Parts: sequence; structure tokens; C-alpha cells
Amino acid sequence: MKIVTTPREVREAIDHEKKAGTRVGFVPTMGALHEGHVSLVRMARSRTGFVAASIFVNPKQFGPKEDLSRYPQTFDRDRRMLEDLGCDLLFHPDERSLYSSADRTRIAVDELSDVLCGASRTGHFHGVALVVAKLFNIVRPDEAYFGQKDAQQAVVIQRMSADLDFSVRIVLGPTVREADGLAMSSRNVYLDPAARAHAPAMYRSLREARARIESGERDPSPIVAMMKTAMRDAGFDVEYACAVDGATLKAIERIDGTVLIACAGRIGGTRLIDNVALRVSGASVEEILLEFPEWSRYA
Ligand code: PAJ
Repeated sequence: MKIVTTPREVREAIDHEKKAGTRVGFVPTMGALHEGHVSLVRMARSRTGFVAASIFVNPKQFGPKEDLSRYPQTFDRDRRMLEDLGCDLLFHPDERSLYSSADRTRIAVDELSDVLCGASRTGHFHGVALVVAKLFNIVRPDEAYFGQKDAQQAVVIQRMSADLDFSVRIVLGPTVREADGLAMSSRNVYLDPAARAHAPAMYRSLREARARIESGERDPSPIVAMMKTAMRDAGFDVEYACAVDGATLKAIERIDGTVLIACAGRIGGTRLIDNVALRVSGASVEEILLEFPEWSRYA
């Protein structure tokens, strides 16, 4: 695996692959890799001939009171994991290789960025959209892989990619979970034993939501109320629990079509998020990964 730190080195490596006609898959990360990241690299490996990953803790997506300064850094371990997975190129820039004090451009993906997690994390998705746009321009992947775990992030990136005509296909991988259901996250290391023990209640509330929908419930209100109560009972400070349209992220009045049931809350001071996406049609309820058919206009 080649490890590079500058955009120029990435371009040279990718140019070489593109000239040979090799399709490039890309997995952007902030490091502190776990099985969720691993599953995306495996997906890239199985679908494309050249796999690039990035590790960059992007300061522009952290708010002033967030955990940028203590975000876990495990570079040597990450590097070995990527090597073992057969990753071909690791882009590990420092802040100055990506940003300069002369930068003035922002990317605002309207309506999708200020709901759900964006309501409390002002500017977060602008920071995500900006860094991902830069990474897409540097790597120029044919496909890029994101986790269903961060469904809103995937929706924002897909919208940005379509709106700005990036010719990249966004592919989602399923949320990888601990044995007790807790979604894997680099931030789970912040959980103390008591918080860790109660954290799976978030996913249990999502499973209960799905079970109620499978039993025929189509009104989001009692489902959302149940989720909030279950999370509060487990000690969560609930930020949101909601049922939204899987494409527009707007609240829905009736559970039908592609629906995202999503929640966020703090436990023991650590903010956790989770979701399930469902395709509901008549009596049929199927858990899905969000899909973005729009990319096909470039196919
Ligand atoms: P990071 O949190 O490191 O996540 C990198 C990728 O791994 C994202 O696509 C995320 O959705 C996915 N991921 C995280 N936990 C997962 C899990 N339990 N199962 C499956 N996939 C999971 O997301 C970011 O970094 C950043 O915002 C980034 C896109 C790199 C831009 O800075």
C-alpha cells in the first residue's frame, strides 16, 4: 500500500490507474478504524480494481464545543488494517495540504444540512460536503463508499455530487454493529462502562419501531414517542427521534415508501446516532440501504 500526504501524489497515482483503465474505489474516513470502516474497504476491494482510502480528521466539520482535540488517533493500527485489507493507496494529508488561509469557498447543501443532526451541529454538513468535494476532486473515484450508519451524511453527499456533476457513484454499506446491537463508531471509546451498558437501547428502540411498522402501524407519532421514552428510560438525553422521507429528510405524516427512522442522543456525555431505512409498500416492510438512482445519468 502506498501512503501519500499531498494531493499531487494522489493525482499521480490515480492518473496511472486511470490510464490503465482501472476503476477506482474510494473510502474516506477520519481514522480510528473499526469493523464499519473495514466493511466499506472490503466492499471497495470487491467492486473496483484500485482501492484508495483517506484518513483525515477534518476540522471544518467539528463545532467549537465538539471533540476535535480528543478525536481518537490510531494511525499505525489503521495503516496496518488497511494494508491487510489490500488497500492500494492511503491518502493521509495534514491540514495544510488540504486547506489554506486563503480559502473562501463553502458548499451548502440546502434543506438537507440543517435538519436532524444538522439542527444541533451547525455547519457540520457544510464541512463534510466541502472536504468530500475536495477529496472527490483529488481522488476522482468511480465509486465512493459510505456507511448507512451516517444516513444523513450520505444523502447530503449524494445531493452535492449530483448537483455539482461529480461522476462518482455513491454506494452505501450496511451499519456494522456490536453483538448487542450498538452501531460501531470511533466515538464508542468515549463511553464509560455504565453508558456502554445502556447504549444498545438506541438500536433496540429502532428495532421496536420496525416491529410496530411490521405490525401495521403507519402513524409516525406513537412510534417516535415510544423511541423517545425507551431512550430516556435508558439514560439518554434525546436529541431527536423521527421518521423522515429517505430522499428529502422531511418529516412524514404517514409511514409509506422509503422511510428513514433516525435518532440521536447523548449518554454519559457522548453523542450517539443510529437509524434504519425501510421500504414500506402496502403491508410489506423491508429493511434497506438508502439508494441513489440519480448517479445513473453518468453511467
Ligand atoms: P468516519 O466517521 O471515519 O466514517 C467513515 C465512513 O465509515 C463513513 O461513510 C461512515 O458512515 C462509515 N461508518 C462509520 N461507522 C459505521 C458502521 N458502524 N457501519 C458501517 N459504516 C460505518 O464519516 C466520516 O468519517 C467523515 O464525515 C468523512 C465522510 C470521512 C468526511 O470527513
